[in-house]
Amino acid sequence: MDRDRPIGVFDSGVGGLSILRALRAELPREDFVYFSDAGHAPYGEKGEEFVSGRSLAIAVDLLEQHRIKGLVIACNTATAAAVHLVRAKHTDLPVVGVEPALKPAVALTKTGHVAVLATRGTLSSAKFKALRDSLEDQAEFQLVPCDGLAAAIENDDQPLVRELCRRYTREACCFGTAPGEIDTLVLGCTHYPFAAGVFRELLGPDVQLVETGQPVARQTRRLLEEMGLLNPSGQGTVRFQTTGDAEALKTAASRWLSL
Ligand code: DGL
Repeated sequence: MDRDRPIGVFDSGVGGLSILRALRAELPREDFVYFSDAGHAPYGEKGEEFVSGRSLAIAVDLLEQHRIKGLVIACNTATAAAVHLVRAKHTDLPVVGVEPALKPAVALTKTGHVAVLATRGTLSSAKFKALRDSLEDQAEFQLVPCDGLAAAIENDDQPLVRELCRRYTREACCFGTAPGEIDTLVLGCTHYPFAAGVFRELLGPDVQLVETGQPVARQTRRLLEEMGLLNPSGQGTVRFQTTGDAEALKTAASRWLSL
């Protein structure tokens, strides 16, 4: 495998840009191809079979069209549904997935109460259940499926984003740093970091927001390093591909990544 090939990154839409942002900071010499499947979004309420079908098709597309040397599934819902299937089908390809940051949250919480906001697909998956079960005795987890929130962020519908963030944080209830209160919020969908300002306003400065960009970027670096695939001379370029609106993706990328 050539070291100078790009790394593929995909999500149902713009959410994976929050992961790409961290990847570019960690791996400035790598070239990337970002695939947004906005024509089939949102994934969160579509069911496992649909999402795994899309994930497998996108992996093939990125390999055939861009000859990627590694793949980051920058979507919690797709990782839960398909990371094992993609790995089994492409055994030579390093594949990194994302999962809600429960482990970092357990390390951070002082009250022992953590809220996890994610898509219905992620929270109902066997992969998430196993993760949660493995940490069961370390914190109390409040799980809130956030129907519609990723789509509202995708469409940049700010009034709806605010309304849904308010509704779902109220559902988790009650945030604060006193004993028994939730002091740590896991943003368990890669779209949600783009609503971090709204969450911060609703919850105040003391509640900790946890996302997965940096640990995923570090894991990607480790994996490529181990396989001798780090690019010493890339230009840090990003190419975009989408099944949806190319202009909307460009606008989101220039807003959030200054690209
Ligand atoms: N950004 C995705 C995730 O991390 C999926 C959002 C969606 O399409 O519902 O779960």
